[in-house]
Amino acid sequence: MIVIKDLSFRYAGAERNALSGVNLEVLDGDFLGIIGSSGAGKSTLTYALNGVVPHHYPGDFYGSALVNGLDTVDAGTEQLSRQVGSVFQDIDGQMVASVVEDEILFGLENFAVDHAEIEGRLTGALAAAGIPELRRRAISTLSGGQKQKVAIAAITALRPRIIVLDEPTGELDPRSSRKIFEYLKELNQEHGITIVVVEQKIMLLCEFAKRLAVMEGGALVRQGTVSEVLQRPDILESAGVNIPRVTTLGEKLREKGLYTGDLPHDLAQARLMMQNLIGSKEAGRAAL
Ligand SMILES: Nc1ncnc2c1ncn2[C@@H]1O[C@H](COP(=O)(O)OP(=O)(O)O)[C@@H](O)[C@H]1O
Ligand SMILES: [Mg+2]
Repeated sequence: MIVIKDLSFRYAGAERNALSGVNLEVLDGDFLGIIGSSGAGKSTLTYALNGVVPHHYPGDFYGSALVNGLDTVDAGTEQLSRQVGSVFQDIDGQMVASVVEDEILFGLENFAVDHAEIEGRLTGALAAAGIPELRRRAISTLSGGQKQKVAIAAITALRPRIIVLDEPTGELDPRSSRKIFEYLKELNQEHGITIVVVEQKIMLLCEFAKRLAVMEGGALVRQGTVSEVLQRPDILESAGVNIPRVTTLGEKLREKGLYTGDLPHDLAQARLMMQNLIGSKEAGRAAL
């Protein structure tokens, strides 16, 4: 479980806070999407979970971040890495080995995983990330998207209780992006791993996340279930987040007084909204 209380952080030498008064709880087994425009503080929030802030980037840190009971300021990054697996936005900076399988083995050996288990974890993680054929490739020859998959495989092989990913689909096409989210869903549903993912593509979050946190200017301006957050498109808009088209459609119908229900965020809900509209129109006609 993650408990962030009144967290503010200002990077050393910076003029303003990267995080301001953030309060957030993430329960075990949750799938949280973090969204917001560039510079909103999303990466910094993930750093507060894995200890990168304040251990690697010093600054003024107020409030607290507890991860499975560990205070991220008191705990070392090594200790935290056993609780939280991190896939960073800067994938190249994350890679330690020069060959794909070594990148995954490095973590497994570092965590002293039993030797009998290592091969299974390695092949399992590669298969699940959809890259078994990359096993012996030099990392320097991979595309950005392939590297993202390697980084995800290396972290999931360690089976941490919480996985934090910072824009893991940034270099991926829509199809590969969905694949990554399907894999995250599987880790979440079948292995109970808590997922915290920063993602710009709202439709992916609408489909796969359970909860959303919206960041703007270092503050967490809204959080809740996906549906709850989508009920306030104005907040999303002012945070610079693109709103799903079906939500905009619902909003327009609502403005015209034609619809009073919940705003939809996927096609199934949009269909219900339209049925609801057509139904009420027919009911109106029948009453005449
Ligand atoms: N290492 C750093 N040193 C100083 N300022 C930083 C550093 N990293 C990020 N910032 C600043 O902190 C704010 C939040 O950045 P960041 O967390 O990277 O936002 P996001 O991930 O939402 O784009 C921005 O104003 C950014 O310029
Ligand atoms: Mg970022």
